Amino acid sequence: MCGIVGYVGSLPVKDILINGLKRLEYRGYDSAGVAMWQPEGLEVVHRVGKVANLEEACADKGAGSTCGIAHTRWATHGRPSEANAHPHVSCDGRIAVVHNGIIENYAELREELLARGHAFRSDTDTEVVAHLVEEYYEGDLLRAVRAATRRLVGAYGLVVTCADEAQTLVVARKDSPIVMGVNDDGCYVASDMVALAKDISDIVVLEDYQLAKLTPAGMVFCGVDGEAIEPEVIHVERDLEEAEKGGYPDFMMKEIYEQPRVIRETLDGRMVNGALSIEELDLSVEELSFIDRVYIIACGTSYHAGLIAKNLIEGWARIPTEVEVASEFRYRNPIITPSTLVVAVSQSGETADTKAAISDARVRGAKVFAITNVVDSSIARESDGVIYTKAKKEISVASTKSFTGQVVSLTLLAMLLGQSKGRLSSSQIRLMFRELADTAGQVEEILSDTSVIERAALACKDATSAFYIGRGISSAICYEGALKLKEISYLHAEAYAAGEMKHGPIALIHEGFPVVTVATKSPVYEKTLSNLQESKTRGALIVAVATEGDEKIKEYADYVLYVPKVRNEFSPITVSVVLQLFARYIAVARGCNVDQPRNLAKSVTVE
Ligand code: M6R
Repeated sequence: MCGIVGYVGSLPVKDILINGLKRLEYRGYDSAGVAMWQPEGLEVVHRVGKVANLEEACADKGAGSTCGIAHTRWATHGRPSEANAHPHVSCDGRIAVVHNGIIENYAELREELLARGHAFRSDTDTEVVAHLVEEYYEGDLLRAVRAATRRLVGAYGLVVTCADEAQTLVVARKDSPIVMGVNDDGCYVASDMVALAKDISDIVVLEDYQLAKLTPAGMVFCGVDGEAIEPEVIHVERDLEEAEKGGYPDFMMKEIYEQPRVIRETLDGRMVNGALSIEELDLSVEELSFIDRVYIIACGTSYHAGLIAKNLIEGWARIPTEVEVASEFRYRNPIITPSTLVVAVSQSGETADTKAAISDARVRGAKVFAITNVVDSSIARESDGVIYTKAKKEISVASTKSFTGQVVSLTLLAMLLGQSKGRLSSSQIRLMFRELADTAGQVEEILSDTSVIERAALACKDATSAFYIGRGISSAICYEGALKLKEISYLHAEAYAAGEMKHGPIALIHEGFPVVTVATKSPVYEKTLSNLQESKTRGALIVAVATEGDEKIKEYADYVLYVPKVRNEFSPITVSVVLQLFARYIAVARGCNVDQPRNLAKSVTVE
């Protein structure tokens, strides 16, 4: 949520900040701002809307400045406006702050600061930080920020600069990611590695309650009490093309086309000497065999990957599996015993609710295992084991390739549990693994000709609402298909277990109402076909996702989107690609910005 970038060094800061913000824009994009250090004081510029607006407003600003901070915002407290855009400044304008997270006790701090004569300009929680630092500032910015953070309750990634301390940035973190790095030109700080200079591959991930001071001479670190800290430097492989569209019209399309690679890389090294290997799980076969309950905790698209996994784990391992939305799980009183396995699924590894839910589960004694896409993310660090999904950086707000990575990883986990329970033999596992690996080629086949998907999408683009229906594992994939459509095309969509249609939703069907039906070959194929006909006879426009070679379905569907024949349990991998493309074509036809849908942010780091 929101993006932060800061730089101090020898290069002109403005371009570094603006380019960094552009790379971070996927995190939030309702307003943006910069503060650049100048001898006469901080030069602060804010603009509502995209970073391009800010860039234009900065055309004649920032001359000679080599130190500054910037922010792209996703509004929580205070509507999107120039006044609410970061950086926020102190009363005298000499201290500026950018912030990710939420200051939970801001109202009480604001009251206190108002009583002490501070004047507020915005409705944000962040502004209290600028005034607090001002309150404590006595010529040492690091000391003042340390004192201020001791007063804060909530989550924060903060970068602060001060007109009275040339070439200095102070950084602090609690529950909101901050990364830093150095090259020959200076020190960089950002909420996400993608905004660091491209040649930086040795990074420091600031930990909770740590602070850093950045100057052209380098970075020094300390704790809240001022004690010196030597942080761990992590070497990361940077993919320099990660933030480029590579010839595709948008990131979403690029990421959809990356899915065959994601499947291959996620499976790479998982079959060793004919046996399934998930070493990171760090549980022996015997320990695995004791697991008698699984909770999958996640949000949004990751939650839908969990719904698919429930079918697999219960089907193959016969272990009762519950899939829970993290924001609910964390406030329930779930039944957790030492034989419970909690699996947290999160692309970003930073989702606030998922993070809080696993902390709670660990306190209750569960073994927590994470499936995430971001190396060293908070959720990865706080889990007992982790599978990385190898999707690489996902820029489009709508998750596509990371979902596929999650489904493949969860499938492996389900297979392992099935084997440890003695329900899947080694030879079955080897056969299933080969079939799972084959899905990469099958997705390539789907991607090689998407014309029918596009035609079906154009037929539905002017609808106001759509249903997605399916049975069994296909109903789980329908939830994801409907979410994709909602979030990027602003077209209302709902998913139902197909058998539920006649218990209410069918009342909404009228002439031309799109019903996307996932009717691939499965034990419930005929039942799904009946549900499809119920809608058809009431005038629905039927878009069916079906198995190649299925001629019968043509009698009922207006558009048939074929997927190659796969084992039913693996069908979510191929079907989801079709549903992603279907949603994207509709969104583009409706003139929507598919990479940056309104009101959304890529990583939801606030509750
Ligand atoms: O990073 P996470 O996987 O934890 O994010 C959870 C959701 O916010 C996310 O899946 C969201 O629903 C998708 N971006 C939608 O496409």
